[in-house]
Amino acid sequence: MIVLFYKEFIKSISFIKLRIGEITLTLFLLASIFPIIDEGGKTMERKKFETDPHRPIYHFLPPANWMNDPNGLIQWEDGTYHLFYQYNPDSPQPANICWGHAVSKDLVHWKNYPVALSPTPNGPDKDGCWTGCAVNDNGTPTLIYTGVFPESVCIAMGDNKLLNFKKYDKNPVIPKPPEGMEVTGFRDPYVWREEDGWYLVLGSGIKGKGGLALLYRSKDLRQWEYLHPLCEGKEEETGFMWECPNFSPLGEDKYVLITSPIPLFYPIYLLGSYQEHRLSVEKIGKVDGCKHSFYAPQIFRDRKGRLIMFGWLRELRSAEAQKEAGWSGVMSLPRQISLKNGEFAVDVVPETEKLRGKRLNSLSNIGIQGDAFLPLEGVEGDILEIIARFRPMEAKSFGVAIRRSQNGEEETLIGYDEEKKAVFVDASRSSHDDSVAKPICYTKLRLKNEPITLHIFLDRSVIEVFANKKIALATRIYPTRKDSLGVGLFSKGGRTTLEKFEAWEMESIWK
Ligand code: FRU
Repeated sequence: MIVLFYKEFIKSISFIKLRIGEITLTLFLLASIFPIIDEGGKTMERKKFETDPHRPIYHFLPPANWMNDPNGLIQWEDGTYHLFYQYNPDSPQPANICWGHAVSKDLVHWKNYPVALSPTPNGPDKDGCWTGCAVNDNGTPTLIYTGVFPESVCIAMGDNKLLNFKKYDKNPVIPKPPEGMEVTGFRDPYVWREEDGWYLVLGSGIKGKGGLALLYRSKDLRQWEYLHPLCEGKEEETGFMWECPNFSPLGEDKYVLITSPIPLFYPIYLLGSYQEHRLSVEKIGKVDGCKHSFYAPQIFRDRKGRLIMFGWLRELRSAEAQKEAGWSGVMSLPRQISLKNGEFAVDVVPETEKLRGKRLNSLSNIGIQGDAFLPLEGVEGDILEIIARFRPMEAKSFGVAIRRSQNGEEETLIGYDEEKKAVFVDASRSSHDDSVAKPICYTKLRLKNEPITLHIFLDRSVIEVFANKKIALATRIYPTRKDSLGVGLFSKGGRTTLEKFEAWEMESIWK
C-alpha cells in the first residue's frame, strides 16, 4: 500500500526549472493535491478493462477487484461528496474487506482516494472493516464501522481532507450485544445526531423471532448506552437478520428505516412515525423493484437537504466469471428518495445530466401498432440514457427494447404491463450465456389516467430504470453478441402512443 501510494504520489508531481543568471531554481508542482490516486488500477488491468464489454463507464466502481456496500456517505464541509465502500483490493472475491474511498465535487464524476481503512492484525477489525457510516463530529470526520470477528463497533478519525484515518486506540466502542440477547448478527452501525446526543442503529436479529434494529445513544461517539430496539420485525415477514439499517426523517412528519434483511436479500423500507425513540411502522415496501441486484443501500442528507441513496449492484454471473473479469460489483447511480403524496418515491438525481454526451434521434407522437416492433434508426449502443414517454391505449404491454441483436435473438425489454399494472424489466432473453442469471422483474405502479415515463440508464452490463419519478428497478445483463446494441419500441396486444423519446450517449465519470 505504502509503495503504491508513493508511486502514485510521484506520478502526480511535475517540476519547472527556472534559470535566473547563475542560479537555477527548481520548482516542484503538485499536479493537484486533490487527486492523489487516479482511477487507474494496475496498467495491465486497465488495458484489459478497456475492451471488457461488461464493465460500466458511468457507474462508480473501484479500479479493480471486489466491491460491495456503499459506506460512510457524507458531503463534507468543503462541499465534496465522499463515497466509501466495502472493498477487497487484492481479488474480485469478498475477503480482507477494507474501506475503499472516492471523492466527487458533483456527485457523478469521481476520483479515487487511498484506502481509508484496512484490517489491523490482532485488532478488533483483524478479519475485516465491515459496513458503517461517517459523521462530522464538530469538524472531525469520523467513521463508525463494524470490526470482525466477533462483530463489534469501532471508530476512526480523519484529517480535514479525509485523506488519512486513525483508528481510536480504545476500539471497539461497542464490543458485544447487550447482555442476555441471542442475536443473529450485530453489525453495520448508522449514526445521526439529535438534540440530546448521537444515536446509533445497529443491524441485528433475535434468534427465533426476527430481524431488528438496536438503538444506542452517546454523548461523544465513544461511550455508548444501549436503549432498546428502534423497530422489530417478524421472521416470517422480514427475515431473521437486518443488515445495513439506515434511519432518517422523510417528508414533514414521517421517518424511514431502510434495511437489507436476510434471507430476503433485497432492501426494504419501513415508513412510520417516530416517538420516544421507537419507529411505529405504517408501511413496508421494496426500495428497488428488482429483487436481484440492488442491495445494502446507504442514505445521507446533502447540503441541499436532499436524501441521497447509493446501493450496491451485485453481479448476476458466476464467481468464476467475476474472477476471470478481474472485478465484481458496481455502485448504483445516486438516487434521491422522498415522500410523494405520502408514498415512498425514488428518482435519479438531476446531476446525471452532466454525463450526457451526443444526443441521438428524438421522436414525438408516434403510434405503434399492436404486436409490432419498431427499430429506432440512429439510436444504438450499450452506453445510453433514454427517456421514453408513452400514453397507454389498448396495448397489454409496451415499452423499449434495448441491447437487441439484429435478429432479436438477444434483447432486454423494459416496459409497462397493463394487466399487472406494473413496470417490468424482462432480461430472460438478454444473453446466450446460460451461466448468467436472466431475471424478469415487475413492480406495481398504478397510473391515474397519466402517461408513463421510462427513464432508462444502460451502462453495458448495468440497467437502471426510473418510472414516473416514483419507482426504480436495477438489474444486470451480460449479452454475448457484438451486435446486441439495437434499440426499438414494442407494443403487444394492441396499439400505444409514444409521446416523446429522447436518447443520449453517455460519457465516462473518470474525467
Ligand atoms: C451487506 C454486508 C454487511 C456487512 C458487509 C460485509 O452486504 O453483509 O452486513 O457489514 O456486507 O462486507
